[in-house]
Amino acid sequence: MKPYLAIGLAIVALLSAGPIAWADAETDLKAKLPEMFAKSAAHYKALDAATTPLMKGKPVNTLENGDLYLPHGWLAWKGRAEYDMHSVYWWTAGHYPGTLWYLYEATDDAFFRERATVWTEILAPIAKVENDHDVGFMMNCSYGNARRLLKTDTYDALLLKTATSLSTRFHPRLGLIRAWGPMEDKSEFTVIPDTMMNLEILEVAAGLPGGEKRFDEIARSHADVTMKNHFRPDGGCYHVLDYDRETGHVKTIRRGQGASCETAWSRGESWGIYGYAMMYRFTKDARYLAFSRKLADFAMNHTNMPADGIPYWDYGRPGEERDSSAGAIMASGLLELSQWLGPAEGAPYRAFAVKQLLALSSPDYFSEGNEIGHFLLKHGTGFKPNKLEIDTPLNYGDYYYLEALLRFRKLAKK
Ligand code: GLY
Repeated sequence: MKPYLAIGLAIVALLSAGPIAWADAETDLKAKLPEMFAKSAAHYKALDAATTPLMKGKPVNTLENGDLYLPHGWLAWKGRAEYDMHSVYWWTAGHYPGTLWYLYEATDDAFFRERATVWTEILAPIAKVENDHDVGFMMNCSYGNARRLLKTDTYDALLLKTATSLSTRFHPRLGLIRAWGPMEDKSEFTVIPDTMMNLEILEVAAGLPGGEKRFDEIARSHADVTMKNHFRPDGGCYHVLDYDRETGHVKTIRRGQGASCETAWSRGESWGIYGYAMMYRFTKDARYLAFSRKLADFAMNHTNMPADGIPYWDYGRPGEERDSSAGAIMASGLLELSQWLGPAEGAPYRAFAVKQLLALSSPDYFSEGNEIGHFLLKHGTGFKPNKLEIDTPLNYGDYYYLEALLRFRKLAKK
C-alpha cells in the first residue's frame, strides 16, 4: 500500500471512531493505570499466599509428572472453588512467575521480585525439555523477564540451553518446529500458530553472548513457512496442521482448540498478531510487520468482533463465550504493532488496543475480591471443544493483560 494511502486510511479510521473519543479513551486508560496496577498487586499478593502452600502439595491435575506445581486457573468451571495447579512441565508454567515480574515492574514492590524469583527458579529443569515446543513460553516469560528486569546474566546459560533444546524440534526439510510429540515419531508432524510465541526465546538467545546464529535462522524459517500455510487468504488462522515430512505439504487440517477447520480460533489469531509483530522487533523484516497487520485487520474488522473488542472464543461462534485471554494477547500485540508502524499508520491499532484494555479493566472482566481466587480476568476460554476451561480465569490472560498495560504506560509517556 502506498504510504499516503495508508496514512489517509488511518486518518479516516480515526475520524470515524471520533478523534475526541479516541483521545478521551487514551486519557481514561492512562488515568486508570495506577488503580489497575494497585488492584492487580493486591489480588496477586492474596493469590500468592493461597497458592504457595500448594507448590509442593497434592496437585489438582494428577495427569502430569512434575513434582512442583504453579497456579494455572480456578476450578469454578468444574463446580469447585479451588486452584487449578499445574506442573512445571505445563505450557503455562512461566506465566505465573512472569505475572509476578510484571507486577514488580509495575509497582517496584520488592515483594514481587522475591516471589517472582522463587517461582521462576523452580522452572530450571525445563531448559532440558526436548519433547515440547512450549519451552519458549515457559522459560521466556519467567527467566526472560527476570533477566530483563534484574539486568543480570545469571540466567543466560538456562536461556541458551532452552533455545538449544527447542532447536532439536526443528525439521530442516520442512523448515518448521514441531509442536508436540517426539521427533522420532513419524506418524505426524503437528504445527500450530501458538508456536510463533515460542520463537521469542530463540531470538533472545541468538542475541546473548554465546548465542548461535542458527537460533535466529530457525525462528525466521518457522515464521516464513507458517506465514505461507497457516492462514487463509483473508488472514484467518487454522489451528493444527499436520505436515507430510517427505513432500512438505499439509496432510490434514484439524480444528484443534477452534470450533471448526473453516473458522478462526480467536486465541490462535491473537498469537499470530503478537508473534509476527515480535518477529519484526528482532529481524526488522517488513514482511512480518505487514503480516501482523493483516491478521490484526482480520480480527479488528471481523463482523463477529463484539463492540468492546474482546473476541468470542472463535470468530465463527458469535454469541457464545468470550475469551478474555485472546483479547489481552491481542491488545499487547496491537500495541507492539502500532509502535512499529509509527504514529499515523499505527493509530487505529493502538486505539483498538486501548478500547480492549478499558474493557478488560472494567467490572465486566476485571474481578472483584475473591470472586475467582484472586486471578484478574474473568471470562477466559481454554479449550471449549473438549469442554475444558470455559468462562474462567487463565493465568496467561492475566500475564498479557499486565504486559499490555505496561506497554501502554511506556507508549503514553512518550
Ligand atoms: N495451546 C495453547 C493455547 O491454548 O493457547
